[in-house]
Amino acid sequence: MIGLLLLLSASAIFAFGHECRNRKFPSGTVCVCNSTYCDTVPSINVSHGNYQVYSTSKSKPGFYCEIGSFINNTTVAANEITVNPSVKYQTIIGFGGAFTDSTGININSLPAAAQKKLIESYFSENGIEYNLCRVPLAGTDFSTRAYSYDDVPLDTNLSKFSLQPEDFNYKFGLLHHG
Ligand SMILES: *[C@@H]1O[C@H](CO)[C@@H](O)[C@H](O)[C@H]1NC(C)=O
Ligand SMILES: *[C@@H]1O[C@H](CO)[C@@H](O)[C@H](O)[C@H]1NC(C)=O
Ligand SMILES: *[C@@H]1O[C@H](CO)[C@@H](O)[C@H](O)[C@H]1NC(C)=O
Ligand SMILES: *[C@@H]1O[C@H](CO)[C@@H](O)[C@H](O)[C@H]1NC(C)=O
Ligand SMILES: *[C@@H]1O[C@H](CO)[C@@H](O)[C@H](O)[C@H]1NC(C)=O
Repeated sequence: MIGLLLLLSASAIFAFGHECRNRKFPSGTVCVCNSTYCDTVPSINVSHGNYQVYSTSKSKPGFYCEIGSFINNTTVAANEITVNPSVKYQTIIGFGGAFTDSTGININSLPAAAQKKLIESYFSENGIEYNLCRVPLAGTDFSTRAYSYDDVPLDTNLSKFSLQPEDFNYKFGLLHHG
C-alpha cells in the first residue's frame, strides 16, 4: 500500500494542441471542424509530481487540459488517497463507437479532407483514440430502410443471403479508413 498525503496545487493552464473552434446553438455548443482544421486532444505529457486534467464544459468546450503539481505538505489536513497498484478491479478492453448506416451517410456527405479529419479525431493519437467499433449486422433504427441479409420469403436455407449496398457504401470504406 502506498499512502499519499498530497495536495493539489492551483493548476497552470496549458493551451496546447488545436483548440476547439466553438459554435453556439440554442441546445449547446459544438466544436467545428472543416477540411483544414479540427481540434485535437492534448497528449499526455506529465512529469513526476505533476498531474494533467482534461475537462469539457459549456464555457470551455472541447478537450480543455490543465497541468498542476502535487504539493507534499504534511502540515495541513488533506484528502488522503490510498492507491494499491497491485490490485485491479476492472478490465477495460477499449472504447469505441458504432458504424451505423447513419454514420456512413453523414460522414460521406462531407468533403474528403473533412472526412479524414473526422476519422482522425476519433481514431488517431491526436483524437480520442477509439480502438473498438460496433458494426451492426444489416439494418438498424439508424438506417433509411428496414432490411436483413436475406429478405427473400421462405428462404430457410439462406441461399439468397447477401451483403447489402449499405455495407459497401457506408460501412466497409469507413472501417478501412479507421
Ligand atoms: C476552417 O477552419 C479554420 C479555423 O476555424 C478557418 O480558419 C478556415 O477559414 C476554415 N476553412 C474553411 C474552408 O472554412
Ligand atoms: C513535454 O513537456 C515538456 C515540458 O514540460 C516539453 O519540453 C516537451 O517538449 C513535451 N513533449 C511533448 C511530446 O509534447
Ligand atoms: C512528503 O514529505 C515527508 C516529510 O518530509 C516525507 O517523509 C515523504 O516521503 C514525502 N512524500 C512524498 C510522496 O514525497
Ligand atoms: C503547507 O501548508 C501550510 C498551511 O497552509 C503553509 O503555511 C505552508 O507554506 C505549506 N508548505 C508548503 C511547502 O507548501
Ligand atoms: C435452398 O432451397 C431451395 C428451395 O428450397 C433449393 O432450390 C436450393 O437448392 C437450396 N440451396 C442450397 C444451397 O441448399
